[in-house]
Amino acid sequence: MNGGLFDLTGKVAVVTGSGRGLGQVMARGLAEAGASVVTCSRTLDEAERTAKQIIEAGGSALAMRVDTSVRESCAELIRVTVDRFGRLDVLVNNAGIDIIEPAEDVTDEHWQKVLDINLSGYFHCAQLAGRQMHAQGTGGSIINNSSIAGGVGIQGLASYSAAKGGVNQLTQVLAVEWAERGIRVNAISPGYFENIMRDAGTEHARPEKEQQVITFTPMRRRGRPEELVGPAVFLASDASSYVTGAILYVDGGYTAA
Ligand SMILES: NC(=O)c1ccc[n+]([C@@H]2O[C@H](COP(=O)([O-])OP(=O)(O)OC[C@H]3O[C@@H](n4cnc5c(N)ncnc54)[C@H](O)[C@@H]3O)[C@@H](O)[C@H]2O)c1
Repeated sequence: MNGGLFDLTGKVAVVTGSGRGLGQVMARGLAEAGASVVTCSRTLDEAERTAKQIIEAGGSALAMRVDTSVRESCAELIRVTVDRFGRLDVLVNNAGIDIIEPAEDVTDEHWQKVLDINLSGYFHCAQLAGRQMHAQGTGGSIINNSSIAGGVGIQGLASYSAAKGGVNQLTQVLAVEWAERGIRVNAISPGYFENIMRDAGTEHARPEKEQQVITFTPMRRRGRPEELVGPAVFLASDASSYVTGAILYVDGGYTAA
């Protein structure tokens, strides 16, 4: 639909955690740019809702139930994608959770859960997708949805930030290792968005938290989920053909301040 450099016609994209929130909006955006999209989340209903929206808009989509913290589930995701569409060109690693708590209260269980989904899940999917793209010999684009918390300290985010910092480093290592195969690996680093992560609890409902977000974001507002579509389509498409290992901040200036 965008045409030219940003056209994704004929491409096949997987977006993890696309049952709602930022993943859902990016999945719809990639489909609008022409890609066939595999949507997935922990609940099939959610993933099917996004796939239905894409199909009703004239696009092509398939929904799957996937738990990205389980390697075999990620393998199934890539296998079914290739069985159904014959190839894989774009992976958006996006499925994530956020447990906000003081560092001294983080339990082993919470720590492990956040790392399993937000870091290991990204690695499982990237490795499996990378192997498929390499076998195809056509290259591809892997986009890791990180967070400003991967680069700056934010109170209450010990496990989340550790995982996102790992995602940033993983992005750079994979970019370097796979550059010669034509597989580009980049990260998007969102700041504070209007949709609050479902697992984040009540922290964002506090007026002081909102004030803090506005004070530290130079654009003085949260991002709208739709504002991630341009960056995702850019990184997925030939418009970014010489971009790899980049961390693209989409944060209203938060990390520049
Ligand atoms: N919302 C924000 O302000 C914000 C800011 C920075 C970064 N992010 C990042 O964006 C991504 C999406 O966040 P969101 O705000 O849309 O969150 P959300 O809670 O609205 O949606 C998360 C999605 O991930 C899925 N998911 C969670 N665990 C999963 C698993 N193990 N397997 C498969 N699917 C799983 C959920 O089912 C859901 O579809 C996350 O990686 C998050 O860290 C969000």
